[in-house]
Amino acid sequence: MVRFPESESPSMTIERTTFGRTPGGDSVACFSLENGRGTRIELIELGAAVRSVQLLDGSGSRTDIVLGYDDLEGYLSNPAYLGCIAGRVANRIAGGRFVLDGKAYALERNDGPHHLHGGSEGLHGRLWRGEPRSQRSVRFAYRSPDGEGGYPGTLELGVTYVLSEDDELRIEYEAETDTATPVNLTNHSYFNLNGHSGPDVANHVLELRASRYTVPDATRIPTGELRAVNGSAFDFTRPAALRERLEQLPGDPAGGDPGGLDHNYVLDSDGGGVELAARVAEPGTRRTLEVLTSEPGVQVYTGNFLDGSIVGKAGARYGKHQGLCLETQHFPDSVNRPEFPSVVLRPGRTWTSTTVYRFGRE
Ligand code: GLA
Repeated sequence: MVRFPESESPSMTIERTTFGRTPGGDSVACFSLENGRGTRIELIELGAAVRSVQLLDGSGSRTDIVLGYDDLEGYLSNPAYLGCIAGRVANRIAGGRFVLDGKAYALERNDGPHHLHGGSEGLHGRLWRGEPRSQRSVRFAYRSPDGEGGYPGTLELGVTYVLSEDDELRIEYEAETDTATPVNLTNHSYFNLNGHSGPDVANHVLELRASRYTVPDATRIPTGELRAVNGSAFDFTRPAALRERLEQLPGDPAGGDPGGLDHNYVLDSDGGGVELAARVAEPGTRRTLEVLTSEPGVQVYTGNFLDGSIVGKAGARYGKHQGLCLETQHFPDSVNRPEFPSVVLRPGRTWTSTTVYRFGRE
């Protein structure tokens, strides 16, 4: 148990335990943060992942509202990126190619013809090192060597998770490089306010502070068009039940398109700070989740590719739509789209980004 002298949060505790060993023999730590309300968050060093978000109910029992695995084994493969940090560039880079300062780079194509979430050497599978920073925060650090995943530059990364007494989980990202390189980090938690093993997220109500989205082609690469959501199945400017929208977006499962939402929204924020991006409510339990961010976009992903093959915590099988991801980020394929906000980090600059997940009740 770690206790800090500057007791601004006397009821907050951080516990460090061992979560297992990697095949290379490295020990992986799990940090458990608990606030005075009894909210408990577990974070693990592999992928700097959120393993659980346990909310205390009136009856004294805890409900875990994120998808995850019981043991390290699960996180060592983690094909759906449950809970982890995705990068160096989260989301897709068209054709796995980009040109920066006149030099062409070729990345792994791990999503059909495209590069997704940093490829198989992505940050989700790296062993970060965690240290408590205060009584309520843990900072994870990782140095990504020059050329890792095909990206230029040695990248020094920091991700700090802070749990507040009023149930906000704040994620602060930092990155520095010695060579110009693209950076776009996100957390890939799948939320389910029913509980991770409960009914799927179709009963959730979603509201987004986004009046436009980046129109994707059939392979989920932006065409460049920012389209108004106005009255379409993508319109969440007023709260809408996911069930209704999932029915309107059936896709073509036989043709490999599972349907549902897997779209990047352009946030209506003015870029000045950490602003409200999304609000989710589950009318049955009355649980709510608000997402605030400094990022210009959010990929809304309704777990369309989950097919029951993943066995998660306590033996739960995660099927289609079992979780909702709200991946705050720069837009997909930004490194190839000069008209989108830039993801290029240059030496001498520090890249920073903040996202807050706020848990509550209506
Ligand atoms: C992101 C992508 C999805 C899918 C998931 C991981 O959300 O946009 O298409 O690849 O990651 O399964």
